[in-house]
Amino acid sequence: MCGIIGYIGKKEIVPLLLTGLKRMEYRGYDSAGLSILDSSSELKSIKKKGRVNDLELASMDLNVKGIIGIAHTRWATHGYPNDINAHPHFDTKMNISLVHNGIIENYSIIKQKLIQEGYSFRSDTDTEVLAVLIERFYDKVKDLEYAVRLALNEVNGTFGIALISKYEPNKIIAARRGSPLILGIGDNEYLVASDASAIIEHTKNVIYLNDDEMAILSPDGFITKTIANKKVKSEIHQLEFDLEQIEKGGFEHFMLKEIFEQTQTIRDAMRGRLLVDEGNVKLGGLRSVRDRIRNARRIIITACGTSYNSALVGEYLIEQLAHIPVEVEYASEFRYRSPILFEDDFVIFISQSGETADTYAAIQEAKQRGATCLGIVNVVGSSIARATDAGIYIHAGPEIGVASTKAFTSQLTVLSLLALYLGRMRNLSTIDGIKIAKELEALPDKVQMILNGASEIERIANEYYQSRNFLYLGRGYNFPIALEGALKLKEISYIHAEGYPAAEMKHGPIALIDKNMPVVVVAPKDEIYEKVVSNIEEVKAREGRVIAITNYGNTDLEKLVDHCIYIPDTLPLLTPILTVIPLQLLAYYTARLLGRDIDKPRNLAKSVTVE
Ligand code: M6R
Repeated sequence: MCGIIGYIGKKEIVPLLLTGLKRMEYRGYDSAGLSILDSSSELKSIKKKGRVNDLELASMDLNVKGIIGIAHTRWATHGYPNDINAHPHFDTKMNISLVHNGIIENYSIIKQKLIQEGYSFRSDTDTEVLAVLIERFYDKVKDLEYAVRLALNEVNGTFGIALISKYEPNKIIAARRGSPLILGIGDNEYLVASDASAIIEHTKNVIYLNDDEMAILSPDGFITKTIANKKVKSEIHQLEFDLEQIEKGGFEHFMLKEIFEQTQTIRDAMRGRLLVDEGNVKLGGLRSVRDRIRNARRIIITACGTSYNSALVGEYLIEQLAHIPVEVEYASEFRYRSPILFEDDFVIFISQSGETADTYAAIQEAKQRGATCLGIVNVVGSSIARATDAGIYIHAGPEIGVASTKAFTSQLTVLSLLALYLGRMRNLSTIDGIKIAKELEALPDKVQMILNGASEIERIANEYYQSRNFLYLGRGYNFPIALEGALKLKEISYIHAEGYPAAEMKHGPIALIDKNMPVVVVAPKDEIYEKVVSNIEEVKAREGRVIAITNYGNTDLEKLVDHCIYIPDTLPLLTPILTVIPLQLLAYYTARLLGRDIDKPRNLAKSVTVE
């Protein structure tokens, strides 16, 4: 959460910082601000409640020329979103300007001490405490980098920071612990940002800072070291995506673009991995753990939000194909409940961003207990990807819409590959493997068929967008899809929605059903289809309105339900990859009819880098 950018170079700095912020706005969007050191080394700053566009309007009059600046787009943790609490934050003399992503957990104790020493504060934020703490040390040691290191030693919690100061006006100091920071190494220009999307326009050469590392950028170059002042050898990596991938490309919203990209992204998740003729899978990222994973006693999958929903599908897949017991747990719970782990356990961490704080912290927990950690991650080089022992990238490309769509189906695709891989290492026959591999290969075209019917889903959304509540039901492989459909609807339309295993409805939620309750039932033709039909009957008997997702040709259901949305046939275990797509579209069109800010829904941020 929160986006940080810092720049040293010859380009016009204010527009550059604003563009960088816009590219990271999905990380947080309740206020924004920037600071520039002008040609006479004076600090010029501006901060605004609202979107980056509001900051842009406010900075029209900020006619500064400078070569060094930092900027921030905020997702509030401490303090209401307003101009004062917006970043950057300053020391009391306004000589140091700091942007921060993360939470300083012991800020209130430090603040009390600083107040007792005579320092004062303008905002309610934890970040300002760090700025003033740096000032306190600077007053003593008169060395900015040293002061930053001393201050960072005093704080608990997480941070990705960038700061500039008129005391030493030719540098940006950046540091991280638990919040991502990337350095961009350009042609006589250097950047720091919390996200590669803010850097890609300027350079593809990047360094991923590790926890407890810092960087000092100057017009002549950069150095990296640990916060404890030890040398580090940083490797330069190449970003693997292009600018056009983070632009809307003619779509009204990123979310819609990303939904329509799924034909391609599912294909990309399988590329070079699926061995159809052998009914097997090649997963280069698991080479180092191949023999151990074959004998895994148990697999635990942990994740948050949409990634958690994909983990639930993973549980069904791996247990069915590989007969390895699987447990799924929210990362936020896993990390705090002292889980019992064995050395022959594998823990899989699923994350689109690779930066989710709870998931990242869960890795440390699992490692301490000796388990092998695997990542299923989208963002290459992200913290989770680097912290795990081995892993599989989903290769969905940048996902900008806050509501995750293409990353979800790519996660499901990779989990299907993993289940097939594990199954073939254990007892799954070649014939069964070939059958699954062929069906996997056919999925992208089937996804396209569903997307071709988007206008029908828009029409259904038109009928229900004013409903106050929705219920989503599914069973077996499609129970997690009911959860995901409900999550998509609530996060972008703000309509209350609940997902349930269809048979659980009669144990409580059935009380909610009346003629005003739309019930979305995921009902593909599989071995429990008849049971789901009984659940639909129960809804209809109470006058609920049913929207069913079922297979082409299953016209019987039309007589029972109010609307049918059709998907092509596939194996039951692969249906989630198809059934979720109409639910993504239903959420999208509903939110659009309600005029919601679809790509940046209220109160949310794309990557949740705080607890
Ligand atoms: O980046 P991650 O996959 O770790 O993110 C986890 C959740 O924060 C994320 O899936 C969130 O629930 C999405 N907004 C859902 O659309």
